[in-house]
Formats: sequence, C-alpha cells, structure tokens
Amino acid sequence: MPTGIPATPTADTPLAEFSHQALRKVGRFGLVIAIGSFLFGYDTGVVSGALLFIKEDFSLNAFEQGAVVSVLLFGAIVGAPLVGRVADRLGRKKTLCLVALVFAAGIAIAALAGSYPMLLIGRVIMGLGVGGVSALVPTYLSEISPAQIRGRVLTLNQLLITVGLLVSYLVDLAFASSENWRAMFAVGLIPAVGLALGSLWLPESPAWLMNHGKVEQTRSLIASVAGDDAANQTIDRYKREGKEREHAEAEQTSDRKGARVLTAPRLRAAVVVGLTLAVLQQFAGINTIVYYAPTIMQKSGLSASNSILYSVIIGVINLVTTIISLRLVDRVGRRPLLLVSLTGMLVSLVGLGFAFVAGWPPVLILVFILLYIVAFAIGMGPVFWVLLGEIFPRQDRAAGVGAGSTVNWTANLVVSLAFLPLVSAIGQGQTFWLFAIVCAIGVWFVARYVPETKDRDFIAIDADLQARWKHDAAHA
Ligand code: GLC
Repeated sequence: MPTGIPATPTADTPLAEFSHQALRKVGRFGLVIAIGSFLFGYDTGVVSGALLFIKEDFSLNAFEQGAVVSVLLFGAIVGAPLVGRVADRLGRKKTLCLVALVFAAGIAIAALAGSYPMLLIGRVIMGLGVGGVSALVPTYLSEISPAQIRGRVLTLNQLLITVGLLVSYLVDLAFASSENWRAMFAVGLIPAVGLALGSLWLPESPAWLMNHGKVEQTRSLIASVAGDDAANQTIDRYKREGKEREHAEAEQTSDRKGARVLTAPRLRAAVVVGLTLAVLQQFAGINTIVYYAPTIMQKSGLSASNSILYSVIIGVINLVTTIISLRLVDRVGRRPLLLVSLTGMLVSLVGLGFAFVAGWPPVLILVFILLYIVAFAIGMGPVFWVLLGEIFPRQDRAAGVGAGSTVNWTANLVVSLAFLPLVSAIGQGQTFWLFAIVCAIGVWFVARYVPETKDRDFIAIDADLQARWKHDAAHA
C-alpha cells in the first residue's frame, strides 16, 4: 500500500491496478463523452462549406459572412467558463446532457432560420455548446480514467474533434450540389441527440462525487466498473490528495470561490502552464490553416475550385496523425510529443514563409502545409487538451479547464480576425514567420515549465509543476 506524500517529483506512488476489462469499459464511457468533441469539430467545420450558399440566400457582404463564422467563437468564450461552474454544481453527467440539449437547440434554430439575425442567434447558441464541451469533456475524461490510460482517453477529445471536422467537410461536399446549407447544419442534430441519450448511460465522475463528500457512493461506483481493490486504492489516492490540499490551504487563505479560486498561489503554476499553452496553441496559427486553407492555396496559384477538397485532405491528415499521437501519448509521454510537435511546426512555418516570399512552386506550399498539420496533430493539438485535464487538482479542475478553454477560444478569435488584415499589411510569408516565432517561444516554454504527467497521480504531477516553478523563482 502506498503511504505518505512523495517529497520529490520522482518519488511517485504506485498506481491502482485495473483489469483489461475495466479499462475497456472506461474507454467506452470515454467514447460517449467525446461525442461532445465530435460536435465541437462538426459545428466549427460545417460553416466553411455552408457559407458559400448562406451568403447567396441572405445576400451577405464580407463582414456579415465573417460574423456567421465568428459569433460561434463569442458563444464559446461565454460557454466555457459558464459550463465549468455548472459542472461543479450539477455534476459532470447532468451538465453533459444539458450541453447536448443546448447544441440541439442552436442547430435547430440555425437550420430553420428564416432571417439573418435568427441564423446568428442559432450560431451563438451552438457556440455556447462548443465552449461548453471544450471545458467539460477534458474534465470528465480525466476524472473517469485511471492514470495508466489517462493520456489515451483524454486524446479521444482531440480525436473526435478531428473526426467531427472531417465529417463536416464530407457532409458539406454531399449537399453542395443541392446547395442545401440547412441540411448541412441539421445533420449535427444526430450526434447532439446521441449525446443527450448517451449521457444517461454514463456514470457520474467519481472525483465529483468525492468533492461532494459521497465517499461510499464513489467506492461502489468504481467497484462496479473495476472491482473492490481498484476502488479502495483509488479512494485512498483521493484521500491523500485531499490531505495535500488541506495542508496547502492551511498556509494560504482559502475563502476564494468559483473562478476566483484560480488566483490562489498554490494554483499559480498550473494556471500559468494551462493558459500559456492555450495561447501558444492558437497563436501558432492552426486555425488560419483549418479555416483559410482554400484561400491560402488560391494565393499560391493553385485553383481554388477544389476548395472543399483541400479541406478534406487536411482533415484526413489531421485525423490520421491524431490517431498516432493517441498511441504514443502514454508511452513516450507528453513533453517529448510537445517538443517534437513545436519544432516540426516551426520548421514547416519557416519553409512555408520562404515558399511565399521566394515564390517557390505551389506544390511545395501544399507539402509544407501538410507537414505543419502532421506536426500539430502529433502534439500541440491533442496534448494541450490532455494536459489541461491533468494539471489542476480535482476540486478546481472544472474551473481550471474552463479558464484554459476560454483563453483558447479568445486567442482563436483574435487570430481569426487578425489573419487576413495581417497578410495584407506584412505579407503572407511574413505572417507565417510570425507564427514560427510563437513556436520557438513554445519550445522554450515547454522545456522550462511544462511537467511530465504520464503515469503519475496528481500529487506527483503537482510536485513536478511546483519544482519547475520554484526553481525559477529561486534563480530570479
Ligand atoms: C485543436 C484546437 C482547435 C483546432 C483543432 C484542429 O482542437 O484547439 O482550435 O481547430 O485542434 O484540429
């Protein structure tokens, strides 16, 4: 039996044992939770094709078209912190069901919209759902997973986001000839209803039950999935983590509530790591490729007539590489994946910049874009969401993940709005070099501050976080 609290980050306690059968069951729960991530991908991706026909139907100018895309991001910025709070009050399971219903409402309003304002309202409500799942899914996945498969289960989030993106492009392709943008949106109702029904089958998060003092309920829940031994070991671990926290709180004021809890000194390192990674992920430019690939390819001289096809190719590469990352994340760990990823993105962006500035052949541009996607999808894409679910203590997890998502969506909005103006101000290639600089900063930041979380319980993760942080303070 593990005893005591490790004094150093390397003195990890042994992990609770889970049978293969129990792990498979957890994987199935994870897949249902990640239908939420599918909706994230689907609803952010579907608009790219739908917009071609929406702009005709409602005779929209460029600004109005942009609004159809970006009001969803506003909704997400509001939805992420809101859902973090609701999930602490109602529990993860009920909140997931509620978010699914919000999705269904938003999709129905957008698909049936008789006017442009109605369409915007539908898109904002879809955005509340998208922000909501981006805060809730990593929290819930992290809390149902034993440490040895936590990385893989958390990677399901990004995997299903990329599946959702790809499926949305294919649905756009299918309805393009009939110009039926309403049907493109409406297909999203199927996963929304699926998620609402699926959530009824899910167990509540054991960590949430513990936070609410329901120790015996937690024990019997884990025992029903993984047996008595695993249940007892997990409860012991929760109790150790609880003691750690009481100890930490005794030294600090602990009367903070809601999102304000994130200003507590003991959370500083986790907040800085989570929020910085959120900004880095977006400021490295991923969504300029995801949202504007056809525009970029057109600038390189390739015809844009196959615009949806470029998106499909990018979607397939994104998905396939994410599957590889899922297989690696619990074997090689989070830090190596992030470092390789950022370095690969850096190299591709420098190449992409040269290709535009020096006028290299368009096919090289496509190659660098695809390399960039591979590099993103092996690390920065999935591992950011994985780490976000892992670095906060369970009592503050929903608030912490909510804050990380909010910052991620805000940074996403900033880059999406700034990209085209930036390109006309400093040039296409130079803009990619700016993203390359962000990646270089990212390499330094990850090497310096990001803890390894593979195979570790929270006490060991937190010790690693604090050690990196304190080392810095001591050398300042
Ligand atoms: C990550 C990003 C999201 C992006 C997606 C692309 O999930 O957070 O903004 O669209 O990857 O795969």
